[in-house]
Amino acid sequence: MCGIIGYVGPQNAVPVLVEGLKKLEYRGYDSAGIAVIKEGQIQVKRVKGKIRDLEDCLKDSVLEGSCGLGHTRWATHGRPSEENAHPHRDCSGTLVVVHNGIIENYLPLREKLQAEGHTFVTETDTEVIAHLVERRFEGSLEEAVRKALPELQGAYAVAIISAGDPDKVVVAKSGPPAVVGLGKDEFFISSDINPILSHTSRVVFLEDREIAILERGGVRYVDFDGRPIGKTEDQLSWTPLMIEKKGFKHFMLKEIFEQPQVVRDTLQGRISQGSGKVYLDETGLDAVALQEIQRVVIIACGTSYHAGLVGKYFIESLALIPVAVEYASEFRYQDLMLDKKILVVVISQSGETADSLAALRATKKSGALTLAISNVVNSSIPREAGAVLYTHAGPEIGVAATKTFSAQLAALSLLALFLAQIKGRMDDESSLPIVQDLLRVPHQMERFLADSRRLEDLAQRFLVFSHFLYLGRWVSFPVALEGALKLKEISYVHAEGYAGGEMKHGPIALIDEKMPTLAVIPRDRAYDKMMSNISEVKARLGYVLAVAFDNDQEIARHVDEVIRVPSVNSLLSPFLTILPLQLFAYYVAARKGADVDQPRNLAKSVTVE
Ligand code: M6R
Repeated sequence: MCGIIGYVGPQNAVPVLVEGLKKLEYRGYDSAGIAVIKEGQIQVKRVKGKIRDLEDCLKDSVLEGSCGLGHTRWATHGRPSEENAHPHRDCSGTLVVVHNGIIENYLPLREKLQAEGHTFVTETDTEVIAHLVERRFEGSLEEAVRKALPELQGAYAVAIISAGDPDKVVVAKSGPPAVVGLGKDEFFISSDINPILSHTSRVVFLEDREIAILERGGVRYVDFDGRPIGKTEDQLSWTPLMIEKKGFKHFMLKEIFEQPQVVRDTLQGRISQGSGKVYLDETGLDAVALQEIQRVVIIACGTSYHAGLVGKYFIESLALIPVAVEYASEFRYQDLMLDKKILVVVISQSGETADSLAALRATKKSGALTLAISNVVNSSIPREAGAVLYTHAGPEIGVAATKTFSAQLAALSLLALFLAQIKGRMDDESSLPIVQDLLRVPHQMERFLADSRRLEDLAQRFLVFSHFLYLGRWVSFPVALEGALKLKEISYVHAEGYAGGEMKHGPIALIDEKMPTLAVIPRDRAYDKMMSNISEVKARLGYVLAVAFDNDQEIARHVDEVIRVPSVNSLLSPFLTILPLQLFAYYVAARKGADVDQPRNLAKSVTVE
């Protein structure tokens, strides 16, 4: 939610900041701005709109400087406009701030500062930070920042520059992520590693209540009390090439096609082809404590929540352990009945989702074991969880999650097998058939994708519809939910995901010839019942497009159209059935001319609650 970037070094900061903002744009894209210091003056350019609008605005400007900040915004306080775009200035215009997060007490702070004579020109919460630092400034920017921070309540990663203490970027973190990039005589600060990758692979992740001071000579770190701290440097394994489109029109399409490899990479090295044994030693899971586990609680949001629902079926079927799946945003308000015999699994591709992080923190005192499933190494949720199972999906740039969903399914299938083996519910011999089925999945995904062009024409025929129903039962129920989410978030078409059996309890009233149904119906234990649900739709003049196995001879006689996917072990069918639904949503959105990678009102990592 919002991206911040900062630079100090020998280059002109402007292109560095603009290129960096392009790579952060998926975090928010309703307005953007940069500020640089030159010859004791701070120059600011801001626009309502995207980074390309900022680039247009910069074309005729002579902005340059070797120290600067940039921001791409997802509005929380104050509408998207040029005035509300960051960086925000203090009264004198000699100090500017970029901020990711929310200052919860900004209204009383604003009133207090106004009473002291400070002039506010925006509707944002962030502007108070500029004035608070201005109030404390006596020549040292880091001292002023440090003295201002105790007044702030809420979540923030802030970066600040001042003409009064130039060639310096001061960054403070309390909540949202901030990572320092260590180049040769140049230093970067960013909300994530993507902008840093093209400059250096050496990074330092800031923890909460830490301040980094970036100067031409190096980076110093202090805590909020001003005590110097030693930080460990990390070496990045992602490469700049991973965040290129590689000939695809959109990142989302590229990421859909990367899924077979992503599943392969997530399984690799964690599963023995010969014996069926699963190895998750790297996660830090305590095998002895796991043997005592009586219940699993999965917590997540959005697509990760849907993966969690599939994970419930994996774990219950294979490990015979009851699983509850909860929305992170709701979980915190429940009466948490947790203890050390419960494994809490928090799934978050970004590892930064505020609701999921807050839910994880809420479990801490209970003694429950905690495991993060995440795609971003060293992000907040993995750092705070007791154990981590990383997915190996590489950077996902499209705001609509696709490849991270498949990678999460792979991680959850490993976890289910691991728990089954640890609890003695499956031995090597009984694991082997499902392990072999699992290892064949990437190849079957490839087979489907290689012959998926038909989806483009199919989507074209459905552009006239404004409402869709997605139905599935058992493991296909979360697939239906995920398919509907994909369609609505990128094409702005209304889509309802429903459990097939629930349709007759309400949504059936919506069915007519204007509302097509996408039915996810692999050959599984729910097949016959799902077939009855399809008949109920057909009897009401509804059009049915089914996603079914390629060996299903029956289905074509009961529906209007079939998209066939390779048949697999039915428990693993979500790996296959999700693919046509992602592509269908993609092609509908692309044909409508929608901004597929950056849908309106959304942001890739939602770091506000
Ligand atoms: O990074 P996370 O997995 O925690 O993100 C959770 C959701 O915000 C995310 O899945 C969101 O729903 C996506 N836009 C779905 O495509």
